[in-house]
Amino acid sequence: MTAIIEKYLKAEQKGSLYWFKAASVDSFPEDGGACVKYKDLQVAVFNFSSRGEWYACQNLCPHKMEMAISRGITGSCEGEPKVACPFHKKNFSLKTGKNLNNEDYQITTYPVKVEDGYVFIGFDEAY
Ligand code: FES
Repeated sequence: MTAIIEKYLKAEQKGSLYWFKAASVDSFPEDGGACVKYKDLQVAVFNFSSRGEWYACQNLCPHKMEMAISRGITGSCEGEPKVACPFHKKNFSLKTGKNLNNEDYQITTYPVKVEDGYVFIGFDEAY
């Protein structure tokens, strides 16, 4: 189980950044998420349109190891953009991946940019 979580951490930028062209912006619902695959990773991408922001993080919820975060409910917690896992409503910051329920697990987040109508996700080039 730990190995599955660790591969998401390994894809976090530590060296050079590789921008993966994920999909066109209209592939993602407004104020919602969708899952894309990069190598052996499932990545949740959120079009947080009410804030005019985009986020990406691992799709794997560390609570019960469910591939579910992309179907989570977006919102804000004291101004922090967050997603609640659809299974047991654990909340994670979309900026830092920190668990907002003060539990000891968190998710890995990735940088996102939008260019020419496409969403790009940044991964460590070495992954
Ligand atoms: S599986 Fe995500 S909160 Fe339980």
